[in-house]
Amino acid sequence: MSPDPVHYHQPFDSLHRDFFGLDTHYHLADGRIARRHYLDSAASTLALGCARHVADELLDHYANTHSDLHFSARIANHAYDWAHGQVLKFVRADAERYSAFFAGSGCTATLNRLARGLATRRPERDVVLVSLLEHHANDLPHRKHAGQVIHIPLVGAAPALGAVDLTALERLLEQYRDRVNYVAVSAASNVTGIVNPVHDIAALAHAHNAWVVVDASQYLAHAPLAISDTGAQERELDALVFSGHKLYAPGSPGVAVARRALFEDSEPDEVGGGMVDDVSLTGYQITARFPDREEAGTPNILGAVQLGAVLNVLQRLGMAQVHTAEQQRLRGLLAELAALPGVRIYGDPDLDRTPRLGTVAFNLDGWEHGLVAAVLNDYFNVAVRNGCFCAHPYVRELLKPELWALDLDPDDAMAIQRWQGMVRASLGLYTMDEDIEALLAGLRDLLARPDHYRALYQADADGNFHHRTFHAPATTLFDPDALLERALARLNVTADML
Ligand SMILES: Cc1ncc(COP(=O)(O)O)c(C=O)c1O
Repeated sequence: MSPDPVHYHQPFDSLHRDFFGLDTHYHLADGRIARRHYLDSAASTLALGCARHVADELLDHYANTHSDLHFSARIANHAYDWAHGQVLKFVRADAERYSAFFAGSGCTATLNRLARGLATRRPERDVVLVSLLEHHANDLPHRKHAGQVIHIPLVGAAPALGAVDLTALERLLEQYRDRVNYVAVSAASNVTGIVNPVHDIAALAHAHNAWVVVDASQYLAHAPLAISDTGAQERELDALVFSGHKLYAPGSPGVAVARRALFEDSEPDEVGGGMVDDVSLTGYQITARFPDREEAGTPNILGAVQLGAVLNVLQRLGMAQVHTAEQQRLRGLLAELAALPGVRIYGDPDLDRTPRLGTVAFNLDGWEHGLVAAVLNDYFNVAVRNGCFCAHPYVRELLKPELWALDLDPDDAMAIQRWQGMVRASLGLYTMDEDIEALLAGLRDLLARPDHYRALYQADADGNFHHRTFHAPATTLFDPDALLERALARLNVTADML
């Protein structure tokens, strides 16, 4: 049996298909050529075609920002400002009090920036509270820059852990009263998709004069999220970050939407062109203008505009509608997975008690995560991710009962790599019923023919599984050199001419 099909209406249906890479085919281990089923959106999403079109059109006018003189510079400035405006609108941030700025190639850059900036702003508050379900990007920067990071526990028990334990958070805020600078949490986990009540967390943090930094990288493509859910200032998030490449705009920068007051009157972390009013040989005057002061150097104009276009489209489509459709698909997937013998789904499976977005991490009893992921890829063309997903403390906590039961030798790194991890399937706006069906079909076949599949693979020292006879190195799938040769040949340029 397959999950109930999800029916879309126009314009949802047209947009759902307007993505690059939905018709990508690969040769499989059994000799078939099949369409790829991309279930790795939590790592990076595919590109929305209409948004990419805007960026491509901008190429005809491409010029640097930071000048309004010639036509093209004027266009670049306008388009780049427009992108900032789309970000603020998308999370309903008050443009008078909040600023959006771009940095790096994902939210790792903006989180590092925030961690450094907030530590400098209130050095007397040396403690940062970080949830246990964080991606390393929302943990390590705080460890590096704060005096002390304390991890907030989650509700429930492994493997059915839930969201951040608000009672424990309140206790920590009390215990470290006057020392907590901010609380850093994800809006949704990149491992389980479990959603944290970020506005409740903000209210608790603010009651203790602590700020709240929210990593919304795994949230914004799936559901509506505003700086304040009710409009009340005490429930406002002080800073929110995300990665554009997880929001249908690969190649776009990392984003921060932050209260201006957090950055005003302090030296920006990075200095250079575009963020100063004047420079003499002995000094420089940093501009008061946002976001310029936070964006030293030439920005990623094309990426930001592409992301702005995605956000514009998603606003028109309505994130509530996106969420509803995805929840239907997610419920179907969870039910089908739970019905397979020996499948363990991580995180509290009760969606009403513990909401989640379109990401599911699981294991099959007695199967290494690496072997399951390899078979799904090689025989079913299902692209999933496996391992610890840069959230090692959380994954280890979810796996604790199993790892204890295995009684692994702590010095046997290979055994630990083999068993410490999960398989993750994650959805996007373009996910189709047949992608989910391909995943389920693969798992069913794997469970039906365990010896057959196991005999086809061998593990390496890192716990990764390799097919004994089928090899598909990247250059046979996509070769930049060969593509370039063909492009040059179209220009009648051959290698010997260069
Ligand atoms: C929740 C979360 N935060 C942060 C990151 C890091 O994002 P990036 O690598 O785009 O900087 C990721 C990436 O997987 C993530 O899932």
